Amino acid sequence: MTPSPRSSLGITALGSYVPGRIVTNAEFEARIETNAEWIESRTGIRERRFAAPDEYTSDVGVAAVRDLLARDPDALRDVDAVICATVSPDALMPSTAALIAMQVGLTGAAAFDLSTACSGFVYGLSVAQGLILAGTARRVLVVGAEALSKIVDQDDRNTAILFGDGAGAAVVGEVPLGYGFQEFVLGADGAGGSSLYLRCAAPRLPGGFEMGESVGMNGREVFKFAVRVLGDSGTEVLAKSGLSSADVDWVVPHQANVRIIEAANERFGVPMSKTVVNLDRYGNTSSATVPLALREALDDGRVHGGHQLLLVAFGGGLSWAACTMKWWDGAPSLVAGQAQAAAGVTA
Ligand code: ACO
Repeated sequence: MTPSPRSSLGITALGSYVPGRIVTNAEFEARIETNAEWIESRTGIRERRFAAPDEYTSDVGVAAVRDLLARDPDALRDVDAVICATVSPDALMPSTAALIAMQVGLTGAAAFDLSTACSGFVYGLSVAQGLILAGTARRVLVVGAEALSKIVDQDDRNTAILFGDGAGAAVVGEVPLGYGFQEFVLGADGAGGSSLYLRCAAPRLPGGFEMGESVGMNGREVFKFAVRVLGDSGTEVLAKSGLSSADVDWVVPHQANVRIIEAANERFGVPMSKTVVNLDRYGNTSSATVPLALREALDDGRVHGGHQLLLVAFGGGLSWAACTMKWWDGAPSLVAGQAQAAAGVTA
């Protein structure tokens, strides 16, 4: 369905979920060679959530969709495609998207996983927009879901302290003209693949870089890359939208390290007071960070209808994605200050 001249495309429903188990920095301090103060001062992370032993990415994804349905029982009407952005899929096949679709009543919808690591949710919004504009889908469910605790070596202090589990789910569909998505900027540079990787079928990357068995990362390289691409893609998407940094009400960035967010904000000129940060409580949940942060800013009343949003993310690939969006709050799950309405649904 191509949107009518009186509408545009945007988010029509939003839900989220984090597992109940809280893992503090002190828990790592007791187990590996690190200390809680180092983790908090170098990253901004105080705690994160870990999925239960028998809880996987499809489970947290389904829980986020159920949260969305608890807030708006009609939210999945006309959804005929499901995208799951994830770097920790239950399996390479079947897709986690198909497993989620089956459990939320969307069997028969197109379903596929999207692999751009932490920029996956914002990539997914753009792909959803494209499917609708092409007439392939009417509405698209985009889920960013991760069980990173299952794929990260919990004894590797370089990575273990950074990541957590969680999920966000959004429906993309028609919204009134003047609201919704404005512009997207997407990109990737495979030359940075060796800075952040998780091997699968091949033991080495083109060029010969040998990958270890679990998630590998060159933290300093990723840090420098992240500051540059978040800053540049944020600046570029604002210019493409005819906006300046002063027009932005809220930046919703990928939550990897608060020092990365601060440095990137400086590059595109939006203060931290207009930036949603929740990595202190959830750490880096990869493709789930942006919808989790957006859901939280709606629940506590920060983001309102008509607000100008800037979403920026980076991830493995290396990859990046930025989006400008005018928030529409005309559907039940999108109204500010909703925490009470869905109390007990999100852990
Ligand atoms: N605890 C204590 N000390 C540590 C730890 C730890 N967990 N990790 C590293 N150190 C030590 C190092 O060994 C080093 O010691 P040295 O000076 O004696 O050599 C010192 O701390 C400083 O190390 P740096 O790597 O320079 O620390 P930095 O300030 O860069 O912080 C960090 C490291 C937090 C990893 C940072 O580089 C970072 O956040 N990078 C980006 C990572 C990221 O965002 N990854 C996710 C990408 S998104 C995705 O797609 C999944």
